[in-house]
Amino acid sequence: MLVTGGMGFIGSNFVLYWLDRHPEDRIINLDALTYAGNPDNVASVCHLPNYRFIRGDISDAACVQRIFREERIDTVVHFAAESHVDRSIADPQLFVRTNVLGTQCLLEEARRHCVTKFVHISTDEVYGTLGQEGRFTESTPLAPNSPYSASKAGSDLLARAYYETFNLPVVITRCSNNYGPYQFPEKLLPTVITRALQNMPIPIYGNGLNVRDWLYVEDHCSAIERVIRSGTPGQVYNVGGGNERTNLQIVQNVLAELGKPTSLIQFVPDRPGHDLRYAIDAGKLRRKLGWQPRYTLERGLKLSVAWYLEHGSWWRKLLKAPSPDDPAAAPDTADSSGPSGTSAAASVLSEKTAKGGGT
Ligand SMILES: NC(=O)c1ccc[n+]([C@@H]2O[C@H](COP(=O)([O-])OP(=O)(O)OC[C@H]3O[C@@H](n4cnc5c(N)ncnc54)[C@H](O)[C@@H]3O)[C@@H](O)[C@H]2O)c1
Repeated sequence: MLVTGGMGFIGSNFVLYWLDRHPEDRIINLDALTYAGNPDNVASVCHLPNYRFIRGDISDAACVQRIFREERIDTVVHFAAESHVDRSIADPQLFVRTNVLGTQCLLEEARRHCVTKFVHISTDEVYGTLGQEGRFTESTPLAPNSPYSASKAGSDLLARAYYETFNLPVVITRCSNNYGPYQFPEKLLPTVITRALQNMPIPIYGNGLNVRDWLYVEDHCSAIERVIRSGTPGQVYNVGGGNERTNLQIVQNVLAELGKPTSLIQFVPDRPGHDLRYAIDAGKLRRKLGWQPRYTLERGLKLSVAWYLEHGSWWRKLLKAPSPDDPAAAPDTADSSGPSGTSAAASVLSEKTAKGGGT
């Protein structure tokens, strides 16, 4: 099995999930190790004889060809992508290169080697935004609003075309917002948890009333497992948790879980083109493949908060944040009204990542 982007958030969770449940399988993890790729995520499996990591770019045709030739790939699970909306506004071309051209490069090689399944991991963001009512189904027209979602929609259409034109057994999944262990602290949940733990202001875009559907990452992995096993080529499957919450509610829940004050919340100017509401109808996946999520949002949030508490060294290393035992650590007195009382690490975080908890 070729897993692309297996050093990122969902990809690494999937590698761990798969090797735990299918120890007889061999996984090749192809990842370029961008800022979002972190070898620490899969440290617990890197010694296994049936696991191999290759540092490489999915849009490097020679590298992809070599992997298919050497490893006789049977199944592709394609996670690798540029995935952060704010970054796509700053540098759209990178998103086209990785998400569109990179996907085409993989599809092409998969076609030549007659793989038995190509699972293309996409997002509910390709459907655009909803008003107060309704949910996305697999037949909702694509109407992406950000360079990120447009590049993902482009890759979805290429995946579809490779099925229609070349009969490549492609299945597309479109999932709602994931959260859980190993999520790079630029996305909403880890931003909130790690900043709250450092008593730093928590920026929220606009009025915080944008609605997202939330799914614990392990439930996403189990959905992909179903799709690998029984998904019908040429089909799209929505994946979602049925957990619609406003960004503000999510932040308030996490602060309550951590025992931190809501006065840490700081509203910042809205993101351009910010989608109001996503809600996913995952009924097809339930009915056709018998999938359902195991984790309620309440349980998933508790587990996630506990994980970030227990794995301080993991995220502190990424953020270059001092540990609480370090005398230079941010004091437990941060001013919630603005970034003025924050540490140097806080400014690095706010510059690089924390612009309002992008999703
Ligand atoms: N995070 C979510 O909530 C969510 C929801 C639905 C769908 N998705 C999709 O799931 C996939 C994984 O998302 P994520 O949140 O884990 O992303 P991530 O940003 O955490 O990880 C992406 C990984 O891809 C790697 N990568 C980037 N460019 C590459 C390239 N050119 N070649 C090889 N590797 C490259 C990075 O190094 C990183 O390890 C993406 O396709 C994303 O669109 C994410």
